[in-house]
Amino acid sequence: MNPAKSLLKSVLILLLSLLFRICVSLDTITPDKPIKDGETLVSNQKTFALGFFSPGNSNYRYVGIWYYQITEQTVVWVANRDNPLNDSSGILSINSQGNLVLHTQNQTLPIWSTNIASISSTNYSISMAQLLDVGNLVLVQQHNQRVLWQSFDYPTNIFLPFMKVGLDRQTGLSRYLTSWESKDDPKTGKYSYKIDTIGYPQLFLYKGQTPLWRAGSWSGQVLTGVPEMKSKLYNSDVNVSFVNNEDGITIMYGITEPDVYSKIMFVLGESGTFGRYTWGDGKWVRFWFDPQESCDIYLNCGPNSYCDPYKGDEFDCTCLPGFEPKSPLDWSIRDGSSGCVRKQRVSTCKSGEGFVKLASVKVPDTSIAHVDMSLSLKQCEQECLRNCSCTAYTSADESEEGIGCLTWHGDLVDIRTFTNEGQDLYIRVDSIVLGKRQSTDSYESSAYSLPNLEDFTSRRGLDGTRRDSNFPVFDLKNIIAATNNFSVANLLGKGGFGSVYKGLLQNGMEIAVKRLSKNSRKGIEQFKNEVVLIAKLQHRNLVRILGCCVQGEEKMLIYEYLPNDSLDSYIFDGTKRSWLDWGKRIEIICGIARGILYLHQDSRLRIIHRDLKASNVLLDTTLNPKISDFGMARIFRGDQIEANTNCVVGTFGYMSPEYAMQGLFSIKSDVFSFGVLLLEIITGERNTNYCHNGPSSNLIEHIWDHWKEGKAMEVVDPSLGETYPADEVSRCIHIGLLCVQEHATDRPTMSTVVFMLSNDTPLPSPKQPAFIFKSTCNTKDQTTIEGANSINEITITKIDGR
Ligand SMILES: *[C@@H]1O[C@H](CO)[C@@H](O)[C@H](O)[C@H]1NC(C)=O
Ligand SMILES: *[C@@H]1O[C@H](CO)[C@@H](O)[C@H](O)[C@H]1NC(C)=O
Ligand SMILES: *[C@@H]1O[C@H](CO)[C@@H](O)[C@H](O)[C@H]1NC(C)=O
Ligand SMILES: *[C@@H]1O[C@H](CO)[C@@H](O)[C@H](O)[C@H]1NC(C)=O
Ligand SMILES: *[C@@H]1O[C@H](CO)[C@@H](O)[C@H](O)[C@H]1NC(C)=O
Ligand SMILES: *[C@@H]1O[C@H](CO)[C@@H](O)[C@H](O)[C@H]1NC(C)=O
Ligand SMILES: *[C@@H]1O[C@H](CO)[C@@H](O)[C@H](O)[C@H]1NC(C)=O
Repeated sequence: MNPAKSLLKSVLILLLSLLFRICVSLDTITPDKPIKDGETLVSNQKTFALGFFSPGNSNYRYVGIWYYQITEQTVVWVANRDNPLNDSSGILSINSQGNLVLHTQNQTLPIWSTNIASISSTNYSISMAQLLDVGNLVLVQQHNQRVLWQSFDYPTNIFLPFMKVGLDRQTGLSRYLTSWESKDDPKTGKYSYKIDTIGYPQLFLYKGQTPLWRAGSWSGQVLTGVPEMKSKLYNSDVNVSFVNNEDGITIMYGITEPDVYSKIMFVLGESGTFGRYTWGDGKWVRFWFDPQESCDIYLNCGPNSYCDPYKGDEFDCTCLPGFEPKSPLDWSIRDGSSGCVRKQRVSTCKSGEGFVKLASVKVPDTSIAHVDMSLSLKQCEQECLRNCSCTAYTSADESEEGIGCLTWHGDLVDIRTFTNEGQDLYIRVDSIVLGKRQSTDSYESSAYSLPNLEDFTSRRGLDGTRRDSNFPVFDLKNIIAATNNFSVANLLGKGGFGSVYKGLLQNGMEIAVKRLSKNSRKGIEQFKNEVVLIAKLQHRNLVRILGCCVQGEEKMLIYEYLPNDSLDSYIFDGTKRSWLDWGKRIEIICGIARGILYLHQDSRLRIIHRDLKASNVLLDTTLNPKISDFGMARIFRGDQIEANTNCVVGTFGYMSPEYAMQGLFSIKSDVFSFGVLLLEIITGERNTNYCHNGPSSNLIEHIWDHWKEGKAMEVVDPSLGETYPADEVSRCIHIGLLCVQEHATDRPTMSTVVFMLSNDTPLPSPKQPAFIFKSTCNTKDQTTIEGANSINEITITKIDGR
């Protein structure tokens, strides 16, 4: 199976397996769940949304896919681009044939359809459309997960990661990009970007039927016309793969660093340019685009010449060695379109001919080229020499010093030079030219070889700002400006590690700045290392860290800003707690669980948060929970599962006994904290602040006592009223008790917790929890403690084993 298919399949299976009972997903259209204009699908990780939109100044309605989190609506795909809706009566549904169709309220004749003929009507009820996190809308048969149709097969103007452009030889489907007509009209426009399979395959940008720019053939690392693909900037975050086999001829790219800057797309613009964009600092930044200068335009210089844009005022076009202008007059008035012809002096066939090298070029149009991957470059030369119709040769694959043999048989067309990128092309010349070259004993340099500018990192200078996406460091003066010099008015909160300020960057982006106290012991290098690692974490239930700022004494972490408060300000508040009905609470519980699971095992690092608590769970505007404050998180490398520290950090009420007493922390200490948090969400009571006159003086003990007596439901937050599903709440209390069991080994892992939350399987009986925080009623302390001494402050009352 090819990588894209298997990737899609695994993404699909993952998504399907997450469709569980409690945490309902909003990314599918099923036969009984269509969407109307005004409604949207949102992919699981909230990367993409699908719905109805009107582009620019248009009043027409279209169904499209756009980035969910990007403020500037960026539509990446349009369904009915050539057949807009006049009004908002559109409905997107699965019809009785199992196709996804767009129609209006009163009309059954579809405006747009996936048009799959072969879906059995007896099985229609189980086809469904799902929006995947890669931005692909797939129509699948649920019983076998077979993909019947996918939007990635019908691209519009945007080339997304994991999308394939090219020919599928099995189905005959040709996938290519086409521009929009204008900003206001997604109608199929004049420009297209596609693979031309004639000869040796290459990519072209066409205007109508006419080639406008040739991106060129694949040289193993880059498209020959896009040497930028070799640059570090380009290479560090995307990897491109080109496949030419019995399955098809396709090009696709993946993302190697799915971090905060991973919003990458290639766009075929309505004015006929193809370029790469990255989302950063609240806007799309263009890295490069083509065609950009006259040398990029197809056939700007005619056959057997090359275009050299670095000649200043001189004419760009130059004949290849051994050739002269076909029309010297045209040439003299700077029109190179007629090209060059061979100087007729001596034969180039078995008459002592040979080759001269043209360095750093975009190799000629390969529609007349032949390839033989079995030959080395030396053998390639012999092969080309042997065959008099061969006019030039080069390596087919530039990786590993050159593999394979690419030969041209006919006019050499559309060559341009680059500064220090590009390929070497060997051109057949007669013995006279060859003799001249050899007598000067410099086969490669002098007149025909081209300048190599050392410091030209990019041949044209990138018009986007250069950014090292591995190291998001903010400038102190920008942070000072953003926070009004850390003014009190901007203060959001204070904790054991420092203060948090709200800030507004110049580009309008809101941030939260955590300014670490100056005496924080962490070394600057270590601090930066952690930021770099944490910056790579990306999950809808984690607050995004955008970067850091280190200058002098100052150490700061910059996070995304969430306007709605932390969870504690809801669940422990007399009024606001009633806004959280059970449905919302279980969503929050599931979200937190998934966020921790990601930290523990789904991210590439193993991270112990160490300070999970209600005040470290922030809520976004839709009350989706986001775990914050990785300031104390410990990153475990490799297989390490447990560690010891002399420096116990954490918060009363949430610390597991082994951590509080022995400084031993592991993923199971986070599970403990999660259990406490879960029980707090159900009861609306603080574990540390629990103050009831009765036999139990601590929330966990209180719940445990009720549980043993079969009266667990009495602990449920009264503000939930009677409207909750008792069995589900009871199950959650049960799971909470499993998480706070005294012995770490008895506690489930987060993946088990997530499983238990989403399934109805029987649960084991909980053993007695740890009652380590029998706080007295004056303990209102919810702040984080740090330091070796703090361990002495903890009162431990009852830790008898069973
Ligand atoms: C849009 O309106 C025009 C004229 O009012 C009508 O002819 C056309 O069928 C409508 N199109 C759709 C998709 O409803
Ligand atoms: C659809 O039908 C309803 C009543 O059947 C009517 O009120 C409405 O105007 C119709 N809408 C369109 C777009 O024709
Ligand atoms: C319909 O679904 C069943 C399994 O549910 C499968 O065995 C059968 O082959 C399907 N029929 C068609 C025509 O796809
Ligand atoms: C990206 O590179 C990795 C490792 O080099 C490889 O496994 C993966 O298939 C590549 N992805 C694409 C889209 O080429
Ligand atoms: C030269 O190469 C071309 C293309 O590979 C081939 O069609 C032709 O038969 C070859 N001629 C000779 C004499 O080998
Ligand atoms: C910010 O405030 C500090 C003291 O509160 C002051 O020393 C410093 O000069 C101020 N910086 C700016 C740029 O206003
Ligand atoms: C969340 O914050 C926004 C903006 O401050 C506010 O309008 C909204 O009412 C808040 N929502 C809740 C549920 O608190």
